[in-house]
Formats: sequence, C-alpha cells, structure tokens
Amino acid sequence: MSTSKNITWHDSEVKKVERQHRNKHKSVVIWFTGLSGSGKSTVSVALEQELFKQQVQTYRLDGDNIRHGLNNNLGFSPEDRKENIRRIGEVGKLMVDAGLVTVTAFISPYREDRDAVRDLLEDDEFIEVYTKCSLDECEARDPKGLYQKARNGEIQGFTGINAPYEEPIDPEIVIDTEQNSVEESVRYIISYLKSHAYIKNK
Ligand code: ADX
Repeated sequence: MSTSKNITWHDSEVKKVERQHRNKHKSVVIWFTGLSGSGKSTVSVALEQELFKQQVQTYRLDGDNIRHGLNNNLGFSPEDRKENIRRIGEVGKLMVDAGLVTVTAFISPYREDRDAVRDLLEDDEFIEVYTKCSLDECEARDPKGLYQKARNGEIQGFTGINAPYEEPIDPEIVIDTEQNSVEESVRYIISYLKSHAYIKNK
C-alpha cells in the first residue's frame, strides 16, 4: 500500500504493446529462484547473452548486484527479503512495460513473495524458473565460501542452512543444474520462449 498522498497516475502515450511490436517480441519477467550456488546467476547470464544475440531487448537483475545499489539498505531477515523481492517485482514490471525481456536471479526463498510478484504482472508476463540443485551440491560448490561461513556460525539466517527455502509448487520451468549443462538449460528456456510465442523462431 502506498503511503504517499496527493499523487496522480499519468498514463504514457507510448503503450507497452507498441514497444513490443517495435521490438518484435513480447516482454516478460523470467524469474529464476533457487538456493545460493544453484546456478541462477550463471544460467541467467548465459540466457541474457543468448537473447541479446537473437536481437531480443533484454536486461538482467541479479541479487548480489542489486544489493550493492537499489537495495543496499536491506539485509536478510524475512521482512527485508520480502522488501527486496517487492522492489525487484516493481522494477521488473517497469521493465516489462518498457518492452524488455527481463531476467531476474534472486534466491527469493518465500513462495508468498514470489507469488506477490506474479500477481503484480499480467497472466503471461511471469515465468518462474526453478533452478533445482540439492543443498549438498550447492554446499559442495560453495562458490562464495558462504556455506562454510554459515556452518561455522559466521552468518546467521543463511538460506538452506538456518533459513528456509520454499520450493515452487508449479513453476513454468524447472532446470536441473546437477543433471544439465548451462548450455542445455539455456537452450531449454529459449525453446520455451519460442514455443510460447514470447520470441520469434530464428
Ligand atoms: S533473497 O533471499 O533476498 O532473494 P538475494 O538473491 O537478494 O536473496 O541475495 C542472495 C545473495 O546474498 C547470496 O547469493 C549470497 O551471495 C548473499 N548472502 C549473504 N547473506 C545471505 C544469507 N543470510 N542468506 C542468503 N544469501 C546471503
């Protein structure tokens, strides 16, 4: 709920559908969710690169990066994670309005917070990509050494160790980063986007 008063919404004369038409593709949020170390950033980077190569107007928002700027006043309590995801949802909505295929990579551990983003967007504007990887494997990868720190008690409330991760119930896409390569996951997502007419067949 907005706490601002005396504000008036102004519609743009350039419409989302006109931007989509010029771009020759639909705009959508591709929302990666999964444990730290599951491969969200890696696959989303490769996906953005491939989309760009295919002339798609695209932009990527990533947890660690956004927390350096826009969300640098937020920590990892459930309330702060909720606010983190809420802001990203709103930014994603703006980007969809701007005609972009927006790729986001946030742990987003709470189902309710992800669903709130889904509700913010039109029916076909939110594609949830569950980046599946067992906790054991994420911990073995430990690319940032954070699982080790969490196990040593140096980080409180670390997702998967002493904070929850709620798996998606019915995501549009599941990628399994223990079974499939980055390239295979990207190919799978691109084929989904094509078969659902988000982007053109090339
Ligand atoms: S989210 O839970 O609010 O969606 P987000 O994706 O923005 O998290 O940030 C996750 C990244 O922050 C992790 O990849 C990791 O590098 C870092 N991080 C630092 N502390 C924590 C923590 N307590 N739990 C999870 N990730 C953490």
